[in-house]
Amino acid sequence: MTIEILTVLPELLTSPFEHSMMKRAQEKGLLTIKLHNLRDWAINKHGQVDDYQYGGGAGMVMVCEPLANAIDQLQEAGKFDEIIFMTPDGARFDQKQANTLSLQNRILIICGHYKGIDQRIRDLYVTKEISIGDYVLSGGELAAAVVVDAIGRLIPGVLNDETSALTDSFQDNLLAPPVYSRPADFRGLTVPEVLLQGDPKKVDQWRSEQALIRTKQRRPDILDHE
Ligand code: ADE
Repeated sequence: MTIEILTVLPELLTSPFEHSMMKRAQEKGLLTIKLHNLRDWAINKHGQVDDYQYGGGAGMVMVCEPLANAIDQLQEAGKFDEIIFMTPDGARFDQKQANTLSLQNRILIICGHYKGIDQRIRDLYVTKEISIGDYVLSGGELAAAVVVDAIGRLIPGVLNDETSALTDSFQDNLLAPPVYSRPADFRGLTVPEVLLQGDPKKVDQWRSEQALIRTKQRRPDILDHE
């Protein structure tokens, strides 16, 4: 899978993908991440990509031309399966969306800044608008990093243990159950007996029960949602 990211701050996005699982995914050739600096398509030699908004009001808007020219040029190598715009007014990102996106071949993520991007780019090019939560970041880069990480780890072959994504929180509209490791007794807090006995059926049942209890307590809103 190839994920291309269009941003005015590519520096912000180098480190998140140079470690751990994202690094391994790229080394294994399962994930390619390409960062593109929008200023390479700036409207003048000062690297300008934004302008005042019509109608007045505070805040600059990322203008059409650099974005359109960048997308057109990048699509000369083939159409993107999705063109995603990171924005707080997009649909809330969740595990289901991560699953769906992880099956695509090539996607483009556009990171917004300032007051956002000219609406006509959204109308003409953008196929999905994603928010990572109900708060406003100073730009779309950190949100894009969250989305790439959530997608990247789901690409088949990226996780060492193929089944482990299936037991993540949210995969069954349930939060993950508690987990324990050694020692069996830490400051008087002991590991539940059923986990120490190691009967796989009983362990599965205990985990299902705990996942349900946790979800009911913490996130009743996700129970039985499709
Ligand atoms: N850009 C700024 N805030 C954002 C958010 N919450 N989600 C996605 N992109 C954003």
